[in-house]
Amino acid sequence: MNKLSPCPIVVLIGGNGSNLQALIDAQEQSAYRIVGVISHRPDVYGLQRAITHHIPTITVDHRHYANREEFDMALSEAIQTFSPRLVVMAGFMRILSAAFIQKFSGSLLNIHPSLLPKFKGLNTHQRVLDAKESQHGVSVHFVTQELDGGPIIAQVAIALVGNEDAESLANKLHQLEHWLYPQVVHWFAQNRLKCVGNVVTLDNEPIASQGLQLVFPRVQGIIS
Ligand code: GRF
Repeated sequence: MNKLSPCPIVVLIGGNGSNLQALIDAQEQSAYRIVGVISHRPDVYGLQRAITHHIPTITVDHRHYANREEFDMALSEAIQTFSPRLVVMAGFMRILSAAFIQKFSGSLLNIHPSLLPKFKGLNTHQRVLDAKESQHGVSVHFVTQELDGGPIIAQVAIALVGNEDAESLANKLHQLEHWLYPQVVHWFAQNRLKCVGNVVTLDNEPIASQGLQLVFPRVQGIIS
């Protein structure tokens, strides 16, 4: 890790920002620094988290733009004021235009609460329960034009045992997310993680299409 020049990253949020908090908490021990936080909603708690840690914030309120292209243009300009090497989506609930994604291709990450490619989109916990899946988990992936369909970098899974509801699953998966996301961002910051075309490499080794399958055994409330 080059301590003199950590990798500048911008985090895009839209709500509570617990993943942002995990990234903030891990950054001192990591190769990245959060140089800006951008929210598409005003007055969200995630902005407060950034302010508490003296991280500059910008709100690009999606309701003030006539269409996606105009919003994405404003978002892109806001990002570029921070000159980041990586843009990290953490609860940013807007679909991005092809032009935007192209501009940040290979340097735009997202975290999604399912074992992709299963359960793309919203309400993943309830849909997993309804489908009686035996496991659930989280995925970090590079963002491409296919919604939640970009190349997967890493996943963490939990076994589903009885008495779960969408809320209990959300709580458990958040613990996985908070462990996984800073780690992946750290790899990128160390120049170990790349995405060329649709192929992800870590330390120059291609990663299988399901992503690295990581094990995190210390989830509270999980027996297995
Ligand atoms: C996370 O569950 C993430 O997977 C999804 O949005 C949620 C954001 O939560 N993309 P938070 O705002 O980081 O607490």
